Amino acid sequence: MQQQLKSILEDAKVQIKDAASIESAEEIRVKLLGKKGELTQILRSMGKLSPEERKEVGQLANEVRSEIEGLLDAKKGELKEIAKQAKFKEEVIDVTEPGRIPVKGVNHPVTQVIDEMSRIFMNMGYELVEGPEVETVFMNFDALNADPNHPSRDMTDTFYITDKVLLRTQTSPVQARTLLAKEPPMKIISPGRVFRCDTPDATHSPVFHQVEGLVVGEGITMADLKGTLSEFAKQMFGPETKTKFRPHHFPFTEPSAEVDVSCFKCGGQGCKVCKGSGWIEILGCGMVHPNVLKVGGIDTERFTGFAFGVGVERIAMLKYEIDDIRLLYENDERFLKQFK
Ligand code: DAH
Repeated sequence: MQQQLKSILEDAKVQIKDAASIESAEEIRVKLLGKKGELTQILRSMGKLSPEERKEVGQLANEVRSEIEGLLDAKKGELKEIAKQAKFKEEVIDVTEPGRIPVKGVNHPVTQVIDEMSRIFMNMGYELVEGPEVETVFMNFDALNADPNHPSRDMTDTFYITDKVLLRTQTSPVQARTLLAKEPPMKIISPGRVFRCDTPDATHSPVFHQVEGLVVGEGITMADLKGTLSEFAKQMFGPETKTKFRPHHFPFTEPSAEVDVSCFKCGGQGCKVCKGSGWIEILGCGMVHPNVLKVGGIDTERFTGFAFGVGVERIAMLKYEIDDIRLLYENDERFLKQFK
């Protein structure tokens, strides 16, 4: 029996030395010291021995057991340390590795034009206001002196929500809202989204953007309108830009005009951008109709004003020579990243 115990110990030494993982060390422990382990078996069979022998064998068995336990503990500690070192190695961070440079986005060209226009007018002291996209028929048409039979009021031209509520067809209702909310003098611009029942093609989109402008005060004349919009055109398209005011009709202004700018591409010689004419139409404007001022309870004997409305997509398309409006809404990164 003593012999047996000694050989268990010798075998154990070899096995423990060779154990490559904590799991195999544990297996060795179960095999030798577990309930059905080799050493346990020997201790069980000690009943057959004489008391003296039992004492001797018992003592040896305990020594063997504690030596094996000690070896196993040491081995497990050693293996744990190795595993820890391996994990540290794996998690090492190379602080000298160059970082990944994040891709920087650019503002959408429509946003760029709105920002640029807002900047120009805010530098002239205009206040930026917003109006709702879901608007009343009253604000969108009636308050703006639109004839009850005006073609733009047709069901086929406008997205009606009820017979009194619609998606605004223009930013002009912000004029009516501002006249109701503020006292003159006032100078506001209002960029925003507008909606019309148009089938998309190269030049039409059912959703697009406008920037509205409104100035009301004492002694405001057509000269102020012309001076303001000429200055705007110069800042927007370059200092050489000339402006031309052509008579037109809008229900909410009298007199009304459309404004052309000299072509910023060819300087007026005639090119593809201006379709050979040397001029580009950019906006509608006029002196605010007294009927519109009256909606806001404004004394039309004392105050006058001017207004203008600019199509944002149109400006963006001219400026960046985009030949299809739909490109602006497809969110194709290859297209958008050109507007740095
Ligand atoms: N609301 C007009 C449109 O959508 C544009 C416009 C023209 C606005 C003249 C104005 C203006 O404020 O005075 O066609």
